[in-house]
Amino acid sequence: MKVDVLLGLQWGDEGKGKIVDVLTPDYDIVARFQGGPNAGHTLKFNGETYTLHLIPSGIFRNNTENLIGNGVVLDPAIFANEIAGLEESGNKIIDKIIIANKTHLILPTHRMLDAASEQAKGKTKIGSTLKGIGPTYMDKTGRNGLRVGDISTPNFIEKYEKLKAKHKKMLTNFDYKYDISDYEKKWFEGIEVLKKCRFVDGENYVSDAMETGKTILAEGAQGTLLDIDFGSYPFVTSSNTVSAGACIGLGVAPNKIGEVYGIVKAYCTRVGSGPFPTELFDDSGEQMQKIGNEFGATTGRTRRCGWLDLVALKYSVKINGVTQLIMSKVDVLNTFETIKIAVAYKINDKIIKHFPFDILEDLEPVYKEFDGWKTELDKITDFAGLPENLQTYIDFIEK
Ligand code: IMO
Ligand code: MG
Repeated sequence: MKVDVLLGLQWGDEGKGKIVDVLTPDYDIVARFQGGPNAGHTLKFNGETYTLHLIPSGIFRNNTENLIGNGVVLDPAIFANEIAGLEESGNKIIDKIIIANKTHLILPTHRMLDAASEQAKGKTKIGSTLKGIGPTYMDKTGRNGLRVGDISTPNFIEKYEKLKAKHKKMLTNFDYKYDISDYEKKWFEGIEVLKKCRFVDGENYVSDAMETGKTILAEGAQGTLLDIDFGSYPFVTSSNTVSAGACIGLGVAPNKIGEVYGIVKAYCTRVGSGPFPTELFDDSGEQMQKIGNEFGATTGRTRRCGWLDLVALKYSVKINGVTQLIMSKVDVLNTFETIKIAVAYKINDKIIKHFPFDILEDLEPVYKEFDGWKTELDKITDFAGLPENLQTYIDFIEK
């Protein structure tokens, strides 16, 4: 068997949680391979709405195993809180979670470093979710990090204190006041919850599963345009959100990747700072925001909205090797008279059709306009039943 990957093709919040939930009956294992509690995957189960941050979206299915892969960064306090919230509503959770020993831990001081760094950046801040993502990945690549496997070693506390002391020294470089005492207590309580989960060498777990014919879905977080290498740097997250990230973040060979499901919203949103060529500042943008309920699931911030950007989408499809495109939230556009798609960019009167190195402020999108379909879509279950104008819209994007 091969590992299928599902990921977002824009700046996150494409509706990944929902699609994973639709696909999970076909999979024995759902695995997260990058990111951490910066993600917010919303899904409905038994009429209730849940937002998952660290726990894979297969959790509500009885026979699905949920792996947190080595590429993820995990905050035990948030993890324990998420488990408690889900178990409160009667779901049995903890037995269905498996964690890779090589998963890195987010320390309370990582969060402080994230906040201090953002504050120091002032106007040029990334707009981070402040979950400590960047500093934790910095410690991973800087070879200082603590991993889940360290929890079971006799000198875990010593390792923790050593890294914390290093962080405290770094924090003296910032004009930033903090008190981690409460959070640290929760963090260690979280470590105790974490210990109840099954720890595995993720790479072996995944290859054994493949050998025995189990099906695996790798669930991406964030989106392609937030990728540390290919996104709108430096306004990105600190991990590889693209399909190749699933190889690294789970220990899967590239030739063992099967389908790549790419999810795209029928328009575009972005939360946090950074360039967004098709961003709208008018009524249309406001309407998308309102009808689409575009509020960050993790931070509650209002999401910026704009038209679909085909230049960026083609780039994303290419980098990920997308084999199946899934479009979400098309019904948010039901009431629009006219719908636009960016097909190129204009910089200083020059037309460009590729995603540029720098998305400069004077970059102007070139739009193609479509007539809206102005119909409700609720009861339609197949493509042929869609209004003609929507079929035209989808056909154009597909081509
Ligand atoms: P899901 O998985 C949308 C954005 C933040 C910020 C930048 C860096 O729900 O789609 P970080 O906390 O990673 O240092 O923030 O990335 N960001 C997301 N935007 N959806 C997400 O996840 C995001 N996770 C991070 O807003 O601009
Ligand atoms: Mg989200």
